[in-house]
Amino acid sequence: MSSKTIMVLNGPNLNLLGQREPETYGTETLADVEAACAALAGELGLTLDFRQSNIEGELVTWIQQARKRATAIIINPAAYTHTSVAILDALNAFDGPVIEVHVSNIHKREAFRHHSFVSRRADGVIAGCGTQGYLLALRQVAHLLG
Ligand code: DQA
Repeated sequence: MSSKTIMVLNGPNLNLLGQREPETYGTETLADVEAACAALAGELGLTLDFRQSNIEGELVTWIQQARKRATAIIINPAAYTHTSVAILDALNAFDGPVIEVHVSNIHKREAFRHHSFVSRRADGVIAGCGTQGYLLALRQVAHLLG
């Protein structure tokens, strides 16, 4: 295992980033986000492991794998943010830094998006900074890892 692998996990519908609701989520695709993260990770001396799933259990399995494979987790759980105790429990079993990212400002939106299960575990939360939030999260992880 690399001591500096950062797992970046993306939840349901984020495979449609750039296509769905561009007024809310912008026009950059998830591939664009991955490329930008990979470039910055390289500059910061971090290894990127970037994934997306529409399946809650798959995200749980990946978080469990991160216990051995990753130093930190950056996660945009998408809709599972607001529903998933399973993802929270999996993150609670992970020892390193966890940063939660949302492209949109969930607090400016519908009431059901205001609560995040994941925020109970996250060391930092970035919302409303667009896809730039992923890069801010990577910089924060680099800062926390020293
Ligand atoms: C999101 C916000 C969630 O409420 C929503 O379900 C998403 C994306 C965001 O990045 O702004 O799918 O996590």
